Amino acid sequence: MAEFTLPKNSALIQGKTFKAPQGTVNIRRFEVYRWDPETAENPRIDTYELDMDTCGPMVLDAILKIKNEIDSTLTFRRSCREGVCGSCAMMVNGKNTLACTKAIDEYSDTIKIFPLPHMQVVKDLVPDMTHFYAQYASIKPWIDTQTPAPADSERLQSKEDREVLDGLYECVLCACCSTSCPSYWWNSERYLGPAVLLQAYRWLVDSRDENTGVRLDDLEDPFKLYRCHTIMNCTDTCPKGLNPAKAIAETKKLLVQRKLG
Ligand code: SF4
Ligand code: SF4
Ligand code: FES
Repeated sequence: MAEFTLPKNSALIQGKTFKAPQGTVNIRRFEVYRWDPETAENPRIDTYELDMDTCGPMVLDAILKIKNEIDSTLTFRRSCREGVCGSCAMMVNGKNTLACTKAIDEYSDTIKIFPLPHMQVVKDLVPDMTHFYAQYASIKPWIDTQTPAPADSERLQSKEDREVLDGLYECVLCACCSTSCPSYWWNSERYLGPAVLLQAYRWLVDSRDENTGVRLDDLEDPFKLYRCHTIMNCTDTCPKGLNPAKAIAETKKLLVQRKLG
């Protein structure tokens, strides 16, 4: 029988509260999702009060301050701290974003931090990206050619051909878009999702690639591509300001154009 409530061991419980030291004037509260697979405990929400006079301006600064000064058990991913590696993706006050490029000042009250939604959690704020990366690998994210490269140069592009990749090459594969897409939530086993489809389009329109036909054949599938129903959550949430929904629509257009000859 279908189950519509969370299993008992998945229900969120109230965790610990770490108060700011007495006399702290400039306090912000952060509520953070915690789950440790090595204990039998339910996931919990821990509350941290931070002194903003000694904290950097970004959400990632707050998380680092918690880790370094208050609770070293907090687990999360991050690397570049400037929106380039895509590893600090998480849900902040209900919207997926990169913690390192999101200013604390953009929120007025308590900041609630959860892992990317609808993913298996490895620990705390770390989602399991294995399936997402396997889907990315499935679209062959590299230049695929049959003809040999010129003997004395790289495969060159005109300025115009290179500009076609603007709005695509900037994707940092953070998965904020895919994990905010309702179609991906329900069909992620078979639907590629907006991040991977934006990447697929990036290679479809690369003037140096010579495998466009095979790439389109691979995407012409009721689940891989056509599960997108243009809900637009992906474009709304992308922290790099990209438009995966448009890339998906353009891919569908290429398939129609091919049919029409
Ligand atoms: S399109 Fe945007 S949200 Fe999606 S993976 Fe790329 S950078 Fe992240
Ligand atoms: S536009 Fe498509 S990919 Fe983007 S959120 Fe909607 S269904 Fe998902
Ligand atoms: S730490 Fe690299 S994108 Fe945030």
